[in-house]
Amino acid sequence: MYLNKHFSEVAESYLFSDIAHKVSAYQAAHPEADVIRLGIGDVTLPLAKPVIAALHKAVDEMGDQATFRGYGPEQGYDFLREAIQKYYAGRGIDLKLEEIFVSDGAKSDLGNLLDLFDVSNTVLVPDPVYPVYVDDNVMAGRTVKYMAATAENHFLPMPDADTDADIVYLCSPNNPTGAAYTTAQLEQWVAWAKAHHAVILYDAAYECFVTEPGCARSIFEVEGAKEVAVEVCSFSKIAGFTGTRCGYTIVPAGIEQGGMSLNKMWLRRQTTKFNGVPYIVQRGAEAVFTDEGMKEIQANLDYYRKNAAVIAAALDEAGVWYCGGKNSPYVWLRCPAGMKSWDFFDWLLENAHVVGTPGSGFGPCGEGYFRLTAFGDADRTKEAARRLKDALAKLK
Ligand code: MLT
Repeated sequence: MYLNKHFSEVAESYLFSDIAHKVSAYQAAHPEADVIRLGIGDVTLPLAKPVIAALHKAVDEMGDQATFRGYGPEQGYDFLREAIQKYYAGRGIDLKLEEIFVSDGAKSDLGNLLDLFDVSNTVLVPDPVYPVYVDDNVMAGRTVKYMAATAENHFLPMPDADTDADIVYLCSPNNPTGAAYTTAQLEQWVAWAKAHHAVILYDAAYECFVTEPGCARSIFEVEGAKEVAVEVCSFSKIAGFTGTRCGYTIVPAGIEQGGMSLNKMWLRRQTTKFNGVPYIVQRGAEAVFTDEGMKEIQANLDYYRKNAAVIAAALDEAGVWYCGGKNSPYVWLRCPAGMKSWDFFDWLLENAHVVGTPGSGFGPCGEGYFRLTAFGDADRTKEAARRLKDALAKLK
């Protein structure tokens, strides 16, 4: 047998596993330290009550011969696809039911979608970026090119005359920088993709955090995007499903090449390699879109937004440059005193017992930056912000 040699081209372990190991080692060496984790973007609030009620009801259905369900449709039950369709329609976006595919999360889909593309495609990703896009492609042996996302372009790279690729990943609101494209900026990306016969893989996992007018929540707000873009989204961040697992991907019917339809290929791929998300979980996800579900979820999002404001206020007081936190649960800061990202990680852990994510873990342009998540508990976030401010004051 021959192993996939491309696995030797990715870092030995995944960024967030690396951080978890480092923190465990620190905690083992300093058992008295009260460490606050603002690293991985994992939610802390429990599932909304309407979601829990729907999950319970679905569990009962599974225990009753009359309502028991076996294999479900691989692309998701219609009740959930219709709820997603309505969610988009509420924002003026028209989706066909067959364009909506329910999955166990955005991370899986982002990797699985690559089954549809030849290995010869050139991939373009922003730098810094969610490391999954790069690793998925490197593991498959694809060439990955980077476009610099810097303070100068507000961490929102745009296509220019030299931009050349077959597959482009855009993540907006962005993980890790929190920057969000405006609809007008996405129009330029869609026009570029059309002109270059490229496809945009658009990660909208954080769309629910968008508050500023003009910022897009979906690439399908742009006319013609359905000819060139696939949108991947998740219940993780909007509704706290990080441990429950459910997401969805919109593969428009209009993306075709050489008589092949991307939508039909994805259906073929999913029906072959995936047996769908559990019925119980899909019923829980459906409840997200009810009036009561949305009300509670919006309150949860506000809770996280307040955490972001608390972190931002501490950085303001400490005179540290940052962005994000407005349309996103991530605050992206410049490491103080010219520290490198991992040095600041160690320094912050040592001096404040606070964990964040080193910017360089998201790509070379992230060097010298650091990400803090607003998904923590409110009191713990306040405590972390206080410690951060005190520690930073000592640096002056
Ligand atoms: C992150 O911290 O970047 C995210 O939680 C990772 C993910 O969503 O998989």
